[in-house]
Amino acid sequence: MSMHTVSRRHFVGGAAAALGTLALKPDFAAAKGIRRVPGGPPMLRVLQSEVDAYDALAHLSSNENPYGPSEKSLEAMNYAFKYSMRYGYPDNNVQERIADAHGVPSDHVLLGAGSGEILEVVGLTYLGHGKKVVGVEPSYGSVYSHASGIDADTVLLPLEADHRQNVERMVDATNRHYRDVGFVYVCNPNNPTGVTMTAAEIAYLLDNIPEDVPVLIDEAYHHFVDDPEYQESLKYVRDGRPVIIARTFSKVYGMAAMRIGFAIAPPVMIDEMRPYSTGSVNALARWGAVAAMEDVEAQRMVLAENRRLRERTISEVEDLGYECIASQTNFFMVHLRTRVAPIRQAFRERGVAVGRDFPPMLDHLRVSIGTEDEMGRFMNAFEDIMRDVAASNGGA
Ligand SMILES: Cc1ncc(COP(=O)(O)O)c(C=O)c1O
Repeated sequence: MSMHTVSRRHFVGGAAAALGTLALKPDFAAAKGIRRVPGGPPMLRVLQSEVDAYDALAHLSSNENPYGPSEKSLEAMNYAFKYSMRYGYPDNNVQERIADAHGVPSDHVLLGAGSGEILEVVGLTYLGHGKKVVGVEPSYGSVYSHASGIDADTVLLPLEADHRQNVERMVDATNRHYRDVGFVYVCNPNNPTGVTMTAAEIAYLLDNIPEDVPVLIDEAYHHFVDDPEYQESLKYVRDGRPVIIARTFSKVYGMAAMRIGFAIAPPVMIDEMRPYSTGSVNALARWGAVAAMEDVEAQRMVLAENRRLRERTISEVEDLGYECIASQTNFFMVHLRTRVAPIRQAFRERGVAVGRDFPPMLDHLRVSIGTEDEMGRFMNAFEDIMRDVAASNGGA
């Protein structure tokens, strides 16, 4: 594939650029490391250089939602501040509202401080006594690192050449290890590839493994999917299958730092898991989450902007001669044909944070979709960095 040498600079303006300038401005007090936050609460003293450096970055490394919580969600969180000193406060019936929104009774819902907590709770509940988790690699690695951390084993299968999860191999591995399988992990769509498992593949998996093997289906990015072959897997929970659906408010709802997610599963499984959960979801997150679910307009905006900027960025990257994996999420992977690690460093030096390594896909860079401004900064950096790489390889 030829490397185009077209140079087009992408418009970069707005708040991020302003912050970039701010970060570079020499500051007398900052030399000491600590000063007041400009425009921030006067009593707040922070390590200003750290805040400036963080704020100035284009944040394209963690699949966050760059727009943050919706106005309605912010209003609800502001309202909930009045409960900051309480236990047992009204929480806007978050558990019931989540259950209603998903067509299940509220005993099917377990809240977590992010879906990250839910994933760990599943591990703690089902991986005791030498049990294993079956899944693909790369996928959302926290599940596997948590398993290793609690001395459980993993059975990790490679992705196909087209980056799909091979459901037949998953079935086969589960059946082969049946007695030792604590649960099967399916990240759908998968992180880091952005590729989905179809409804038919999920059905095949559930129809061909023993009925009592728990299956954890992580649907952190399900809102972003357009593929008609994809379906959420809630119906399996309603059918009473041992399926746990993990969901988060960190992605389409833009509440990653608020830490709220949930599991939907049959009540017996919720009861098995509850002793391992902390139950420590704060008042603001509870109120903000209810408002977020109801703010359909805000979700539409996030999804439309994400799709527009993802498709535009992918097409610009492909015009430069780099293949991307078609994504159904708020991130995509580009094949750099060279190791990502040093390139990631080069992006960082240009103020752009991009995804970490995802072994064994060490030549694929994961890029989250940020704001228009951030994607412009990414493209400018990409063009410069990859031109240098091509030149040092003796190319154009
Ligand atoms: C697939 C997947 N599952 C779960 C999580 C955890 O998200 P959180 O703990 O913020 O809900 C993430 C975070 O990026 C993710 O990508």
